[in-house]
Amino acid sequence: MNKLKGSPRRYGAFDDHAQEYVITTPHTPAPWINYLGNNGFYGLFSHTGGGYSFWQDAKLRRLTRYRYNNIPADSGGRYFYLKQGHTIWSPGYRPANTELDSFECRHGTGYSKINSRLGAIRSELLSFVPLDTRAEVHRLRLSNEGEQPQSMQLFSFVEWCLWNADEDASNFQRNLSVGEVTVDGSLLVHHSEYRERRDHYAFFSVNQAISGFDTDRDAFLGPQGTLACPDVVCRGQSRNSVADGWSPIASHQLDIELAPGESRDLIFVLGYIEVAAADKWADNPPSASRQSTSAAVPYLAPAHALAHRFADNDAVERHVNALKHYWQQQLQGFHVASPEPLLDRMVNIWNPYQNMVTFNLSRSASYFESGIGRGMGFRDSNQDLIGVVHLEPTRARQRILDLAATQKRDGSAYHQYQPLTKQGNSDIGGNFNDDPMWLVFAVSGYVRETGDLSILAAPVAFDDQPDGDAALFDHLSASFQHVLNKLGPHQLPLIGRADWNDCLNLNCFSDDPDQSFQITENRQGDVAESVMIAGQFVLFGREYQTLCEQTGRTQAAAAAADAIAGMVRAVETHGWDGDWFLRAYDALGRPVGSRSNQEGQIFIESQGFCVMADIGLHNGKARSALDAVADRLATAHGIVVQQPAYSRYYPEYGEISSYPPGYKENAGIFCHANPWIMIAETRLGRGTKAFDYYTRIAPAYREQNDQQLHRQEPYIYAQMIAGKDAKRHGEAKNSWLTGTASWNYYAVTQFILGIRPELDGLRIDPCIPASWAGFSVIRRFRDATYHIEISNPDGLEQGVRRICVDGQWREGNLIPVLSGEVQVKIIMQAL
Ligand code: GLC
Ligand code: GLC
Repeated sequence: MNKLKGSPRRYGAFDDHAQEYVITTPHTPAPWINYLGNNGFYGLFSHTGGGYSFWQDAKLRRLTRYRYNNIPADSGGRYFYLKQGHTIWSPGYRPANTELDSFECRHGTGYSKINSRLGAIRSELLSFVPLDTRAEVHRLRLSNEGEQPQSMQLFSFVEWCLWNADEDASNFQRNLSVGEVTVDGSLLVHHSEYRERRDHYAFFSVNQAISGFDTDRDAFLGPQGTLACPDVVCRGQSRNSVADGWSPIASHQLDIELAPGESRDLIFVLGYIEVAAADKWADNPPSASRQSTSAAVPYLAPAHALAHRFADNDAVERHVNALKHYWQQQLQGFHVASPEPLLDRMVNIWNPYQNMVTFNLSRSASYFESGIGRGMGFRDSNQDLIGVVHLEPTRARQRILDLAATQKRDGSAYHQYQPLTKQGNSDIGGNFNDDPMWLVFAVSGYVRETGDLSILAAPVAFDDQPDGDAALFDHLSASFQHVLNKLGPHQLPLIGRADWNDCLNLNCFSDDPDQSFQITENRQGDVAESVMIAGQFVLFGREYQTLCEQTGRTQAAAAAADAIAGMVRAVETHGWDGDWFLRAYDALGRPVGSRSNQEGQIFIESQGFCVMADIGLHNGKARSALDAVADRLATAHGIVVQQPAYSRYYPEYGEISSYPPGYKENAGIFCHANPWIMIAETRLGRGTKAFDYYTRIAPAYREQNDQQLHRQEPYIYAQMIAGKDAKRHGEAKNSWLTGTASWNYYAVTQFILGIRPELDGLRIDPCIPASWAGFSVIRRFRDATYHIEISNPDGLEQGVRRICVDGQWREGNLIPVLSGEVQVKIIMQAL
């Protein structure tokens, strides 16, 4: 760790070759986590082994317990203790907290490694979820690097969650009586509630005979026990406890002798089993040593089989290599070599990796999202999809159909749904009037990428017409119409509860601290309008129009074109404040985001969306709006949401004014909205400016600065960085699950590097810093791999007039759909 005064504090570094981030101390400013799992089984895994696991749904199928906002922070995980004489230490530092002679945690794509050493013992923990497997594998390799034989006891520890994480953290009068476990050799099984309605259980196993176990937390910890020094570990002997209610855990004891130079691999598997109804009570082979809380022991064969798949190290190696291979393949989907190694690092590794995590989990489970509050967000998931559609088109297609199924006939949508049930969440409901148009964005992104227009004909019933025969295209029409059916006094879209900015609640008017700002409407809602939705309607409406044209719906296309032209007029007439776009009209018809306001005079969202939609491009409005952003909203740490920050609570604006100035939507830097301005800058051809904004928030660039100020993981984006009005300007929060990931990726790959998929090919329209001499991209697109080399001898920011495809020059900037390996050369020229 660098402790030099005055120099920025660092806690790690990128290893680009290994595609890992290497954290070199357990003492980071916050837990720096990774995600294990990619398709159903997930684990959150911090650099000291903290976190938890779940199957599909972090609320309904939580496997291990985790206490958010705990003291000390991040206590709870898959833990190991080594006891050598009087010394007790944890290979991952936590929970024993014994200082180690060396420590590093390497977070990679879907796996993490914690390597540490204390005295003669080196420990290497490899943790991952093998592809298509409902289990985490933790291989602990212990080596004796000393000259004397070493003996030690190893204890494992996980604490089970009673499935529903919400009830687990609240309904103690029930929880503390229902815990049930079975111990079958080295397989420790948690099966609370299996007796009655559940068809699933979880287990923690190790691939060797054990010398003891515990499944009862109190027995393991002792009466006043702590995770740092559990009673069983201190005395060096398990109690062989069989839990009966209270808090079931799983802990193995292994006694280990290591000769000098000797290594041992212990393979732990944390698995989830669903049992077919017919097998639920199938017999287990008789065993004298099996112990259970209950006479009703689940059918254990599937658990033994799953654990057995990782019985030896070859299997672990095979599976971890398959996982690495999968990610290498994925990351080859888009590969850039530019004059900016930090940009390459983002685009080639970390940004698409984060995109996949956000696509998988929406905003459900991170260290800032508890996994019980939110399911899959309609607007969030539609945006996340854009970041992975080139990598996972089949899963993207399914996601689109799932999302569309939560939409109603009038185009409105449930704001969130539970991933396990795929049912819209009625507690949160709908009426966020930006929601419908995000579906158009996702579908058009999918069609551009894949060319698969057939998705538009896929049957998807509306949520409120389950027997109807609607196709996906009807959902897009419903989305488009939804906006037109809800126009306000200025012919601008009504905002409803909120648009993208969840906290600009113009119909809420709440003075009741027990109401949620976001699901409360105390006003009719027929006055407050959103200029952001207007821009969104124009931008994505054009995509809708294109889809109409591509499917021969000429009339609908013409009608859409008229409606869009009408919206552009409404914005130019009523959505313009003189130097920038207004943000909204409030419930009394007064402007929001105007010079006439005392606070909140200019907002980022409407500048971004209107200019992305080319509104005001030819009459100076767009340029003026973006110059105002540069002037009033941009900071060294990114662009803030609005200025001046609200200094008091305004009932007519809602939650936004409830945050202290500089945090969250009240003038924080919402990294999600920054790429809108980057893209907008490229619409004006200002590549240097667009890229400058990119570097202010891109993790690889920020990583070079003060990591102690930023605090969160330096390899991925956070949702928010505190704005200039905040005491902690530059400090990040809400890392990992944010639309920031897909939008930054979209901005940098499609608008700055300018490689943009269209139905008929790849449009090449870079908008780069004038200082770049060129760059190259390898881009997989449908059946071809395009090797694109772009040179910029005249120091331009934009300009592609012709392209050379496999040796043939063609006019224009569209590479047609081809197959195989395609060589493309481009020399930028002034237009
Ligand atoms: C959060 C939400 C997202 C919303 C944004 C701005 O990131 O997940 O849906 O648009 O905040 O309020
Ligand atoms: C909170 C957050 C906002 C988020 C919303 C989601 O209001 O401030 O960013 O989008 O919750 O429900």
